[in-house]
Amino acid sequence: MVVPGLVPWERTPISRRYHPSWAYALGTIEYVPERGTAVGRFVRVAKKSELPENDGTYVEVQGHRIALFNLGGEIYAIDSTCTHMGGPLSEGRVRGDEVECPWHGSHFGIKTGKVRGFPAKEDAATYRVRVAGNDVEVEV
Ligand code: FES
Repeated sequence: MVVPGLVPWERTPISRRYHPSWAYALGTIEYVPERGTAVGRFVRVAKKSELPENDGTYVEVQGHRIALFNLGGEIYAIDSTCTHMGGPLSEGRVRGDEVECPWHGSHFGIKTGKVRGFPAKEDAATYRVRVAGNDVEVEV
């Protein structure tokens, strides 16, 4: 079956190869974009009205540990596990669009997951977020 947007098997680096039929069989993947990154489903994780402004909230969904941040009414989601030694980013101090890991002080951009301060060297994963009414949904 040919699905628009699927990455041809032969052009995909070995590290990213998987056959789309596996994902369809599992029912977990709907679409594979050009970059070879799997795209999942949006899952409701919180009520927007319950997310404190300029602070983090921890949610766990389908095995993903996610830190939600409400920056002036815009909701962002990054992996809550610090890439340095696993500190809880959802409990970090928020300054502007940055969160500081509570364990050793690494800084991450909340909108991009980019590491901005040592000791962490790797970026945090980000999740796509959509808000439907008061429902906050994260793509996992
Ligand atoms: S665990 Fe986050 S900076 Fe060390």
